[in-house]
Amino acid sequence: TVLVVDFGAQYAQLIARRVRECSVFSEIVPSTMPVEEMLAKRPKAIILSGGPSSVYEPGAPAAPTGMFTTGVPTLGICYGFQVMAQALGGLVENSDVAEYGGAVLRYSGEGSLLAGLPAEQSVWMSHRDSCSAAPEGFTVTASTDVTPVAAMEDRAHGLYGVQFHPEVMHTDHGMDVMRRFLYEEAGCRPNWTMVNIAEETIDAVRAQVGDRRVICALSGGVDSAVAGALVQRAVGDQLTCVFVDHGLLRKGEAEQVEKDFVAATGVNLHVVDATDRFLSALEGVTDPEDKRKIIGREFIRVFEVAAREIVGESAEPVEFLVQGTLYPDVVESGGGTGTANIKSHHNVGGLPDDLRFQLVEPLRTLFKDEVRALGEQLGLPAEIVWRHPFPGPGLAIRIIGAVSRDRLDVLRDADAIAREELSRAGLDRDVWQFPVVLLADVRSVGVQGDGRTYGHPVVLRPVTSEDAMTADWARLPFEVLQKISTRITNEVADVTRVVVDITSKPPGTIEWE
Ligand code: XMP
Repeated sequence: TVLVVDFGAQYAQLIARRVRECSVFSEIVPSTMPVEEMLAKRPKAIILSGGPSSVYEPGAPAAPTGMFTTGVPTLGICYGFQVMAQALGGLVENSDVAEYGGAVLRYSGEGSLLAGLPAEQSVWMSHRDSCSAAPEGFTVTASTDVTPVAAMEDRAHGLYGVQFHPEVMHTDHGMDVMRRFLYEEAGCRPNWTMVNIAEETIDAVRAQVGDRRVICALSGGVDSAVAGALVQRAVGDQLTCVFVDHGLLRKGEAEQVEKDFVAATGVNLHVVDATDRFLSALEGVTDPEDKRKIIGREFIRVFEVAAREIVGESAEPVEFLVQGTLYPDVVESGGGTGTANIKSHHNVGGLPDDLRFQLVEPLRTLFKDEVRALGEQLGLPAEIVWRHPFPGPGLAIRIIGAVSRDRLDVLRDADAIAREELSRAGLDRDVWQFPVVLLADVRSVGVQGDGRTYGHPVVLRPVTSEDAMTADWARLPFEVLQKISTRITNEVADVTRVVVDITSKPPGTIEWE
């Protein structure tokens, strides 16, 4: 494993992902972890991440004692580099000129980490402090106009530091630097491949579950689908999947779960069509938080009944519940062992005390892109693997106003057209999410044919994002927008107007409710 020491603000996640893109397993640890504990994980390499602090600020995170005498090849990036430089006697100063964004890195030709790179390349910088003198024993291998020491190394001791960010895509040869460090300097082997991940995870599930029984709630989303498919591979018919159809999914999605997923995996599926129940509970409700609460509450009730049926009908008690928890959730909640309680941000929160399960979380070590690759490896259909994120409360929070069957039908048709045209333009994977929102309580005049119409607007909300925490509006080509607009107003009765939301997040959120 490669340890990525996190100096704050999630800087480590991107580095950890890049290491895995080099087919090497990586794990994020907090900078407060004692070095002995890190070494107990037997790391092949250590990477110190960037962070938001200045090494001079009181309370700025320091490197743990003994960090630079482990003998394990260590690369410091940005703040991690400055921590290294300062700890070993170099000079880190608050420079007058900050360096944010692109900069030209000049490589001296010396040393090993940057070997083979051009004499000049564009790199991404983000720092106020600068290292003006490297510690003794280090060779300075690169600089920029602003930063005298932009890269340094002491190969004899396995220590390397770069001020720039090799992990961001704006650094021309960033991945070359990562690969060079991992393969040449640290001797890592590229054996974190999808085949291995699938095999290891399947073995681990088998070991955990033994011959006992498992249930899994499918949402229609990629995480629960891949988790379910994996567990199916591991323990076959000991698994029963439950799909609660709340009637708030998009066109074709329930069928995808009921037909395509089952065909691809051979899983035992227990479907509960709870549309009537959800729609009557939602009748007349307009407040978004009320909608969410009602849907969450009803989901648990329906799931509980289904689970009791499954638990009751088997000779062996069901002891395990599959959760599609991903690595970013694990890192954000500070690690933990993941056995006892179901976290509230998951779909199946708050089951009653007498219905307790141990959790099976086969995706706990994976990032989203790895989950998708794994889904492909397991033979799931592309429509499931590449599905955009979709909120648990579904279309209920994309109807501004009360939810009804008619309104759902209108929105489903408009949404299907938008998705179809996006796919047809080959832009599915360029867009993070593409909510279509029905302003059900707003009416607007139109003219169609020879007559005046008085219907509702829909809002197109295509966004780009890395993690849904921040987002930007997607610059879809005008022709695609035009096509979507024409088709929706022609084909969906009751929609007279199509508008595009060009708010970023922040200040807007991705969803309208
Ligand atoms: P916002 O709208 O806050 O959304 O920018 C961020 C991401 O979360 C999704 N989202 C939800 N997912 N239950 C969910 O499971 C919810 O209540 C919910 N609300 C928003 C949203 O689609 C986006 O991916």
